[in-house]
Amino acid sequence: MRTAICPGSFDPVTLGHVDIITRASKLFDRVIVAVLVNVEKKPWFTIEERTDLLKKATEGLKNVEIAGFDGLLVDYARQREATAIVKGLRAVSDFEYEFQMALTNNKLDPNIETVFLTTSSENMYLSSSIVKQVGLLGGDISPFVPECVQEEILLRIRQRSKLK
Ligand code: PNS
Repeated sequence: MRTAICPGSFDPVTLGHVDIITRASKLFDRVIVAVLVNVEKKPWFTIEERTDLLKKATEGLKNVEIAGFDGLLVDYARQREATAIVKGLRAVSDFEYEFQMALTNNKLDPNIETVFLTTSSENMYLSSSIVKQVGLLGGDISPFVPECVQEEILLRIRQRSKLK
């Protein structure tokens, strides 16, 4: 059984994330979407909210599991018996950081491969930060997030913005 980890902050989940998770679920027997619990930059969504939104957004994918993780990604991957880390690559701007992480993870555990999937062209520009910015400024976030969680995300963004 081939298990892959799709790690990230998912603050919040976007259509870009769902695209990568869906494609990974076709390549591997099991995909664990690992949500980083303690995000350095303060997350807008709690770990429960981020996990819950991901569960709803990936409901139809039977071999996908959502879980929180903390500490080193390779430790978590080993613990879950995963052999690959799947990441989405958008523009060139992603490359340096992703390359650095992939090489670091390879040094930490050479048995775990990092696999990059190129983002589909319609999601090239998409990020969780863009979703928060557009939502906060009253824009339409429907082209960026799964329909089933759109309202929930909008509500949270507006609640969070009032607290700031
Ligand atoms: O969605 P993000 O914020 O780009 O995801 C970053 C993530 C979670 C993949 C990265 O921060 C991570 O792997 N954190 C765990 C800590 C770790 O293993 N660091 C060493 C590898 S660089």
